[in-house]
Amino acid sequence: MYKINDNYLKLPGRYLFSFIEKKVAAFREKHPDKKVIPLGIGDVTQPLAPTIINTLHYVVDEMKNADTFKGYAPSSGYEFLRNAIVKGDYRSRDVDISIDEIFVSDGAKCDAGNIQEIFSIDNKIAVCDPIYPVYLDTNVMAGRTGTYDETTQRWSDVIYMPCTPDNNFAPELPKETPDIIYLCFPNNPTGTTITKDQLQVWVDYANRVGAVIIYDAAYEAYISEDNVPHTIYECEGAKTCAIELKSFSKNAGFTGVRLGYTVVPKDLKRSNVSLNALWARRQATKYNGAPYIVQRAGEAVYSKSGREQIKKQIDYYMNNAKVICEGLRSAGYHVFGGVNAPYIWLKTPNDMTSWEFFDYLLENANVVGTPGVGFGPQGEGYFRLTAFGTYENTVEAVERIKKL
Ligand code: MLT
Repeated sequence: MYKINDNYLKLPGRYLFSFIEKKVAAFREKHPDKKVIPLGIGDVTQPLAPTIINTLHYVVDEMKNADTFKGYAPSSGYEFLRNAIVKGDYRSRDVDISIDEIFVSDGAKCDAGNIQEIFSIDNKIAVCDPIYPVYLDTNVMAGRTGTYDETTQRWSDVIYMPCTPDNNFAPELPKETPDIIYLCFPNNPTGTTITKDQLQVWVDYANRVGAVIIYDAAYEAYISEDNVPHTIYECEGAKTCAIELKSFSKNAGFTGVRLGYTVVPKDLKRSNVSLNALWARRQATKYNGAPYIVQRAGEAVYSKSGREQIKKQIDYYMNNAKVICEGLRSAGYHVFGGVNAPYIWLKTPNDMTSWEFFDYLLENANVVGTPGVGFGPQGEGYFRLTAFGTYENTVEAVERIKKL
Protein backbone atom coordinates (compact mmCIF):
# COMPACT_ATOMS: atom_id res chain seq x y z
CA MET A 1 0.00 0.00 0.00
CA TYR A 2 1.42 3.38 -0.92
CA LYS A 3 2.12 6.01 1.67
CA ILE A 4 1.94 9.72 1.14
CA ASN A 5 4.60 12.22 2.14
CA ASP A 6 2.86 13.19 5.33
CA ASN A 7 5.17 16.14 5.85
CA TYR A 8 2.65 17.88 3.58
CA LEU A 9 0.00 17.36 6.25
CA LYS A 10 2.11 19.36 8.68
CA LEU A 11 1.85 22.50 6.56
CA PRO A 12 -0.35 24.96 8.42
CA GLY A 13 -3.17 26.45 6.32
CA ARG A 14 -3.01 27.13 2.63
CA TYR A 15 -0.33 28.83 0.58
CA LEU A 16 -0.63 32.50 1.48
CA PHE A 17 -1.26 33.95 -1.97
CA SER A 18 -3.73 31.24 -3.02
CA PHE A 19 -5.71 31.87 0.16
CA ILE A 20 -5.81 35.63 -0.49
CA GLU A 21 -6.87 34.98 -4.08
CA LYS A 22 -9.83 32.93 -2.83
CA LYS A 23 -10.87 35.59 -0.32
CA VAL A 24 -10.72 38.29 -3.00
CA ALA A 25 -12.66 36.14 -5.49
CA ALA A 26 -15.42 35.67 -2.88
CA PHE A 27 -15.49 39.42 -2.26
CA ARG A 28 -15.72 40.19 -5.99
CA GLU A 29 -18.56 37.71 -6.40
CA LYS A 30 -20.47 39.33 -3.57
CA HIS A 31 -19.73 42.88 -4.81
CA PRO A 32 -19.51 42.75 -8.61
CA ASP A 33 -20.02 46.53 -8.79
CA LYS A 34 -16.90 47.38 -6.75
CA LYS A 35 -13.53 48.10 -8.35
CA VAL A 36 -11.03 46.10 -6.35
CA ILE A 37 -7.43 47.32 -6.52
CA PRO A 38 -4.91 44.49 -6.14
CA LEU A 39 -1.74 45.50 -4.27
CA GLY A 40 -1.27 42.07 -2.71
CA ILE A 41 0.89 39.60 -4.59
CA GLY A 42 4.00 41.12 -6.15
CA ASP A 43 2.87 40.64 -9.72
CA VAL A 44 3.93 43.18 -12.32
CA THR A 45 1.43 45.18 -14.38
CA GLN A 46 3.60 46.84 -17.03
CA PRO A 47 3.84 45.06 -20.40
CA LEU A 48 7.11 43.57 -21.57
CA ALA A 49 9.58 46.14 -22.90
CA PRO A 50 9.52 46.68 -26.71
CA THR A 51 13.01 45.19 -27.15
CA ILE A 52 11.88 42.00 -25.47
CA ILE A 53 8.71 41.83 -27.56
CA ASN A 54 10.71 42.32 -30.78
CA THR A 55 13.11 39.58 -29.73
CA LEU A 56 10.23 37.24 -28.95
CA HIS A 57 8.68 37.81 -32.39
CA TYR A 58 12.02 37.16 -34.03
CA VAL A 59 12.78 33.98 -32.14
CA VAL A 60 9.29 32.58 -32.57
CA ASP A 61 9.94 32.83 -36.30
CA GLU A 62 13.21 30.98 -35.83
CA MET A 63 11.14 28.05 -34.63
CA LYS A 64 9.41 27.67 -38.00
CA ASN A 65 12.61 26.76 -39.88
CA ALA A 66 14.37 23.46 -39.42
CA ASP A 67 17.74 25.25 -39.55
CA THR A 68 16.99 27.56 -36.65
CA PHE A 69 14.46 25.46 -34.75
CA LYS A 70 15.47 24.49 -31.21
CA GLY A 71 14.40 21.46 -29.20
CA TYR A 72 15.48 20.70 -25.65
CA ALA A 73 17.51 23.46 -24.08
CA PRO A 74 20.69 22.66 -22.14
CA SER A 75 19.58 21.99 -18.57
CA SER A 76 21.86 24.73 -17.21
CA GLY A 77 20.89 27.25 -19.86
CA TYR A 78 22.21 28.41 -23.23
CA GLU A 79 25.67 29.90 -23.24
CA PHE A 80 24.45 33.11 -24.86
CA LEU A 81 22.28 33.86 -21.82
CA ARG A 82 24.77 32.67 -19.22
CA ASN A 83 27.41 34.88 -20.87
CA ALA A 84 25.05 37.86 -20.83
CA ILE A 85 24.32 37.22 -17.13
CA VAL A 86 28.00 36.92 -16.20
CA LYS A 87 28.83 40.11 -18.08
CA GLY A 88 25.75 42.11 -17.11
CA ASP A 89 25.23 41.12 -13.50
CA TYR A 90 28.72 40.19 -12.25
CA ARG A 91 31.69 41.40 -14.32
CA SER A 92 30.03 44.83 -14.55
CA ARG A 93 30.38 44.91 -10.75
CA ASP A 94 33.91 43.49 -10.73
CA VAL A 95 32.60 40.21 -9.41
CA ASP A 96 34.25 37.11 -10.77
CA ILE A 97 31.58 34.52 -11.57
CA SER A 98 32.04 32.15 -14.50
CA ILE A 99 29.39 30.78 -16.81
CA ASP A 100 29.60 27.26 -15.42
CA GLU A 101 28.52 28.67 -12.07
CA ILE A 102 25.25 29.96 -13.56
CA PHE A 103 22.20 27.70 -13.79
CA VAL A 104 19.31 29.16 -15.77
CA SER A 105 15.83 28.09 -14.72
CA ASP A 106 12.20 29.02 -15.10
CA GLY A 107 12.26 31.25 -12.06
CA ALA A 108 13.66 31.91 -8.62
CA LYS A 109 10.63 30.51 -6.81
CA CYS A 110 11.28 27.00 -8.15
CA ASP A 111 14.98 27.25 -7.40
CA ALA A 112 14.31 28.61 -3.90
CA GLY A 113 12.09 25.59 -3.33
CA ASN A 114 14.28 22.99 -5.02
CA ILE A 115 17.72 23.96 -3.76
CA GLN A 116 17.17 22.35 -0.35
CA GLU A 117 17.13 18.95 -2.10
CA ILE A 118 20.92 18.89 -2.39
CA PHE A 119 21.28 19.14 1.39
CA SER A 120 20.84 16.40 3.94
CA ILE A 121 17.62 16.24 5.89
CA ASP A 122 19.68 16.71 9.09
CA ASN A 123 20.55 20.31 8.33
CA LYS A 124 19.12 22.96 10.56
CA ILE A 125 17.78 25.98 8.72
CA ALA A 126 17.70 29.56 9.94
CA VAL A 127 15.12 31.91 8.49
CA CYS A 128 14.15 35.51 8.94
CA ASP A 129 10.80 36.18 10.53
CA PRO A 130 8.89 37.48 8.56
CA ILE A 131 9.93 35.46 5.52
CA TYR A 132 8.88 34.67 1.93
CA PRO A 133 6.93 31.44 2.67
CA VAL A 134 8.59 29.31 -0.01
CA TYR A 135 11.87 28.85 1.90
CA LEU A 136 10.16 27.49 4.97
CA ASP A 137 7.30 25.53 3.38
CA THR A 138 9.62 23.59 1.10
CA ASN A 139 11.73 22.57 4.09
CA VAL A 140 8.54 21.47 5.84
CA MET A 141 7.66 19.35 2.81
CA ALA A 142 11.11 17.79 2.97
CA GLY A 143 10.65 16.95 6.67
CA ARG A 144 13.42 19.17 7.94
CA THR A 145 11.52 21.43 10.35
CA GLY A 146 10.26 19.26 13.25
CA THR A 147 6.84 19.89 14.72
CA TYR A 148 4.64 22.94 14.45
CA ASP A 149 3.39 24.77 17.52
CA GLU A 150 0.06 26.48 16.76
CA THR A 151 0.43 28.88 19.67
CA THR A 152 3.85 30.26 18.79
CA GLN A 153 3.37 29.53 15.06
CA ARG A 154 6.89 28.15 15.03
CA TRP A 155 8.60 24.94 13.99
CA SER A 156 10.60 23.12 16.65
CA ASP A 157 13.67 22.53 14.45
CA VAL A 158 13.92 25.92 12.78
CA ILE A 159 16.02 28.85 13.94
CA TYR A 160 14.04 32.07 13.63
CA MET A 161 15.73 35.43 13.21
CA PRO A 162 13.24 38.19 14.04
CA CYS A 163 13.29 41.22 11.74
CA THR A 164 11.49 44.09 13.40
CA PRO A 165 11.74 47.88 13.61
CA ASP A 166 13.97 47.35 16.69
CA ASN A 167 16.76 45.90 14.54
CA ASN A 168 15.86 47.87 11.40
CA PHE A 169 14.63 44.58 9.92
CA ALA A 170 18.22 43.28 9.76
CA PRO A 171 18.49 39.82 11.30
CA GLU A 172 21.04 39.29 14.05
CA LEU A 173 23.43 36.35 14.07
CA PRO A 174 21.54 33.47 15.70
CA LYS A 175 22.55 32.10 19.11
CA GLU A 176 22.17 28.52 17.90
CA THR A 177 24.38 27.61 14.96
CA PRO A 178 22.48 26.89 11.73
CA ASP A 179 23.63 24.82 8.76
CA ILE A 180 21.60 26.61 6.09
CA ILE A 181 20.76 30.30 6.32
CA TYR A 182 18.10 31.88 4.11
CA LEU A 183 18.57 35.59 3.47
CA CYS A 184 16.66 37.81 1.06
CA PHE A 185 17.82 41.37 0.38
CA PRO A 186 16.28 43.70 -0.67
CA ASN A 187 13.75 41.95 1.46
CA ASN A 188 10.44 40.42 0.64
CA PRO A 189 8.20 41.15 2.54
CA THR A 190 9.54 44.13 4.53
CA GLY A 191 10.96 46.05 1.56
CA THR A 192 14.01 46.89 3.68
CA THR A 193 17.62 45.94 3.06
CA ILE A 194 21.10 45.71 4.59
CA THR A 195 24.43 47.30 3.74
CA LYS A 196 27.40 45.53 2.24
CA ASP A 197 29.19 45.67 5.61
CA GLN A 198 26.23 44.00 7.30
CA LEU A 199 26.14 41.29 4.65
CA GLN A 200 29.88 40.77 5.03
CA VAL A 201 29.24 39.89 8.70
CA TRP A 202 26.93 37.09 7.53
CA VAL A 203 29.43 35.82 4.98
CA ASP A 204 32.22 35.76 7.58
CA TYR A 205 29.91 34.02 10.04
CA ALA A 206 28.82 31.38 7.51
CA ASN A 207 32.43 30.63 6.59
CA ARG A 208 33.37 30.44 10.25
CA VAL A 209 30.63 28.01 11.29
CA GLY A 210 30.55 26.06 8.02
CA ALA A 211 27.02 27.14 7.05
CA VAL A 212 25.70 27.86 3.58
CA ILE A 213 23.74 31.04 2.81
CA ILE A 214 20.93 30.82 0.29
CA TYR A 215 20.76 34.41 -0.82
CA ASP A 216 17.65 35.54 -2.67
CA ALA A 217 18.48 38.66 -4.65
CA ALA A 218 15.27 38.73 -6.70
CA TYR A 219 14.71 42.44 -5.99
CA GLU A 220 18.27 43.60 -6.66
CA ALA A 221 17.22 45.81 -9.59
CA TYR A 222 15.28 48.03 -7.18
CA ILE A 223 18.30 49.08 -5.15
CA SER A 224 18.65 52.85 -5.17
CA GLU A 225 21.18 53.43 -2.40
CA ASP A 226 24.94 53.15 -2.85
CA ASN A 227 26.01 51.01 0.08
CA VAL A 228 23.57 48.17 -0.65
CA PRO A 229 25.10 45.06 -2.25
CA HIS A 230 23.68 43.97 -5.60
CA THR A 231 25.03 40.47 -5.19
CA ILE A 232 26.35 38.57 -2.19
CA TYR A 233 29.54 37.91 -4.17
CA GLU A 234 30.50 41.54 -3.63
CA CYS A 235 31.41 40.30 -0.16
CA GLU A 236 34.80 38.74 0.38
CA GLY A 237 34.63 34.98 0.86
CA ALA A 238 31.04 34.60 -0.37
CA LYS A 239 32.04 32.05 -3.01
CA THR A 240 32.88 29.51 -0.32
CA CYS A 241 29.56 29.89 1.52
CA ALA A 242 26.78 31.31 -0.65
CA ILE A 243 24.31 30.33 -3.35
CA GLU A 244 22.52 33.21 -5.03
CA LEU A 245 19.02 33.19 -6.53
CA LYS A 246 18.05 35.70 -9.20
CA SER A 247 14.86 36.35 -11.07
CA PHE A 248 13.78 38.08 -14.28
CA SER A 249 10.25 38.41 -12.88
CA LYS A 250 10.54 41.67 -11.04
CA ASN A 251 13.25 43.50 -13.01
CA ALA A 252 11.97 42.66 -16.50
CA GLY A 253 8.32 41.76 -15.96
CA PHE A 254 8.77 38.02 -16.55
CA THR A 255 6.32 36.84 -13.85
CA GLY A 256 4.29 35.15 -16.60
CA VAL A 257 7.15 34.50 -19.03
CA ARG A 258 9.23 32.67 -16.36
CA LEU A 259 12.99 32.95 -16.17
CA GLY A 260 15.53 33.03 -13.38
CA TYR A 261 18.92 31.69 -12.48
CA THR A 262 20.92 30.34 -9.57
CA VAL A 263 24.61 30.83 -8.95
CA VAL A 264 26.42 27.93 -7.32
CA PRO A 265 30.13 28.78 -7.11
CA LYS A 266 32.63 26.01 -7.79
CA ASP A 267 34.49 26.94 -4.58
CA LEU A 268 31.44 25.89 -2.56
CA LYS A 269 32.38 22.45 -1.29
CA ARG A 270 31.61 20.26 1.70
CA SER A 271 33.93 17.31 2.46
CA ASN A 272 35.38 17.95 -0.97
CA VAL A 273 31.99 17.47 -2.65
CA SER A 274 31.09 20.30 -4.99
CA LEU A 275 27.62 21.77 -4.55
CA ASN A 276 27.92 23.05 -8.10
CA ALA A 277 28.23 19.43 -9.31
CA LEU A 278 25.29 18.31 -7.16
CA TRP A 279 23.03 21.07 -8.45
CA ALA A 280 24.14 20.39 -12.03
CA ARG A 281 23.24 16.73 -11.53
CA ARG A 282 19.91 17.62 -9.98
CA GLN A 283 18.99 19.98 -12.81
CA ALA A 284 20.12 17.57 -15.52
CA THR A 285 17.97 14.83 -14.02
CA LYS A 286 14.86 16.78 -13.14
CA TYR A 287 14.81 19.76 -15.47
CA ASN A 288 14.79 20.17 -19.23
CA GLY A 289 15.86 23.79 -19.33
CA ALA A 290 14.02 27.09 -19.74
CA PRO A 291 12.59 27.47 -23.27
CA TYR A 292 14.95 28.80 -25.96
CA ILE A 293 12.46 31.56 -26.80
CA VAL A 294 12.38 32.75 -23.20
CA GLN A 295 16.15 32.58 -22.83
CA ARG A 296 16.57 34.77 -25.92
CA ALA A 297 14.09 37.21 -24.35
CA GLY A 298 16.26 37.09 -21.22
CA GLU A 299 19.34 37.89 -23.29
CA ALA A 300 17.52 40.95 -24.68
CA VAL A 301 17.15 42.23 -21.12
CA TYR A 302 20.93 42.85 -21.14
CA SER A 303 20.98 44.71 -24.46
CA LYS A 304 21.44 48.50 -24.38
CA SER A 305 17.83 49.21 -25.33
CA GLY A 306 16.58 46.44 -23.04
CA ARG A 307 18.40 47.94 -20.09
CA GLU A 308 17.11 51.44 -20.83
CA GLN A 309 13.51 50.30 -21.19
CA ILE A 310 13.64 48.14 -18.09
CA LYS A 311 15.14 50.96 -16.06
CA LYS A 312 12.09 53.05 -16.96
CA GLN A 313 9.78 50.31 -15.68
CA ILE A 314 11.69 50.06 -12.43
CA ASP A 315 11.48 53.84 -12.03
CA TYR A 316 7.75 53.61 -12.71
CA TYR A 317 7.23 51.06 -9.93
CA MET A 318 9.51 52.93 -7.54
CA ASN A 319 7.47 56.06 -8.15
CA ASN A 320 4.45 54.02 -7.05
CA ALA A 321 6.41 53.03 -3.95
CA LYS A 322 6.98 56.72 -3.24
CA VAL A 323 3.29 57.50 -3.72
CA ILE A 324 2.38 54.78 -1.24
CA CYS A 325 5.01 55.72 1.35
CA GLU A 326 4.29 59.45 1.22
CA GLY A 327 0.52 59.03 1.08
CA LEU A 328 0.37 56.63 3.99
CA ARG A 329 2.83 58.63 6.09
CA SER A 330 0.72 61.74 5.59
CA ALA A 331 -2.26 59.72 6.85
CA GLY A 332 -0.32 58.81 10.02
CA TYR A 333 0.80 55.27 9.14
CA HIS A 334 4.19 53.92 10.19
CA VAL A 335 5.72 52.83 6.93
CA PHE A 336 8.95 50.91 6.12
CA GLY A 337 10.68 49.82 2.92
CA GLY A 338 9.86 51.17 -0.52
CA VAL A 339 13.31 52.75 -1.08
CA ASN A 340 15.39 49.81 -2.33
CA ALA A 341 12.49 47.44 -2.94
CA PRO A 342 9.02 47.47 -4.47
CA TYR A 343 7.35 46.51 -1.17
CA ILE A 344 5.98 48.75 1.54
CA TRP A 345 5.61 47.32 5.03
CA LEU A 346 3.25 49.18 7.32
CA LYS A 347 2.10 48.92 10.89
CA THR A 348 -1.60 48.23 11.05
CA PRO A 349 -3.56 51.04 12.69
CA ASN A 350 -5.38 50.77 16.04
CA ASP A 351 -3.70 47.49 16.98
CA MET A 352 -5.63 45.59 14.33
CA THR A 353 -4.27 42.16 13.52
CA SER A 354 -2.90 41.71 10.02
CA TRP A 355 -5.97 39.76 8.89
CA GLU A 356 -8.38 42.24 10.53
CA PHE A 357 -6.70 45.01 8.56
CA PHE A 358 -6.83 42.90 5.39
CA ASP A 359 -10.61 42.50 5.75
CA TYR A 360 -11.07 46.12 6.78
CA LEU A 361 -9.15 47.37 3.76
CA LEU A 362 -10.93 45.04 1.37
CA GLU A 363 -14.39 45.90 2.71
CA ASN A 364 -13.92 49.64 3.09
CA ALA A 365 -11.35 50.67 0.50
CA ASN A 366 -11.62 47.67 -1.83
CA VAL A 367 -7.83 47.45 -1.77
CA VAL A 368 -6.03 44.12 -1.48
CA GLY A 369 -2.76 43.85 0.40
CA THR A 370 -0.93 41.01 2.10
CA PRO A 371 -1.28 40.39 5.84
CA GLY A 372 2.14 40.52 7.48
CA VAL A 373 1.42 37.53 9.69
CA GLY A 374 1.19 35.42 6.52
CA PHE A 375 4.98 35.80 6.36
CA GLY A 376 5.58 34.72 9.96
CA PRO A 377 4.60 35.52 13.55
CA GLN A 378 6.75 38.67 13.68
CA GLY A 379 4.65 39.96 10.80
CA GLU A 380 1.58 40.09 13.02
CA GLY A 381 0.29 43.65 13.19
CA TYR A 382 1.98 44.49 9.88
CA PHE A 383 0.75 44.62 6.32
CA ARG A 384 2.48 44.57 2.94
CA LEU A 385 1.54 46.64 -0.12
CA THR A 386 3.21 46.19 -3.47
CA ALA A 387 4.36 48.96 -5.79
CA PHE A 388 3.74 46.73 -8.83
CA GLY A 389 0.25 48.12 -9.54
CA THR A 390 -0.46 50.66 -12.25
CA TYR A 391 0.26 54.27 -11.30
CA GLU A 392 -3.43 55.19 -11.60
CA ASN A 393 -4.56 52.33 -9.35
CA THR A 394 -1.81 53.05 -6.85
CA VAL A 395 -2.85 56.70 -6.54
CA GLU A 396 -6.49 55.70 -6.23
CA ALA A 397 -5.74 53.03 -3.62
CA VAL A 398 -3.72 55.48 -1.52
CA GLU A 399 -6.50 58.09 -1.74
CA ARG A 400 -9.06 55.51 -0.62
CA ILE A 401 -6.87 54.43 2.30
CA LYS A 402 -6.31 58.04 3.33
CA LYS A 403 -10.08 58.59 3.46
CA LEU A 404 -10.73 55.69 5.85
C1 MLT B 1 5.27 38.01 -3.53
O1 MLT B 1 4.25 38.67 -3.70
O2 MLT B 1 5.77 37.81 -2.43
C2 MLT B 1 5.91 37.42 -4.73
O3 MLT B 1 5.36 37.94 -5.88
C3 MLT B 1 5.72 35.99 -4.77
C4 MLT B 1 6.64 35.34 -5.71
O4 MLT B 1 7.53 35.96 -6.29
O5 MLT B 1 6.48 34.14 -5.86
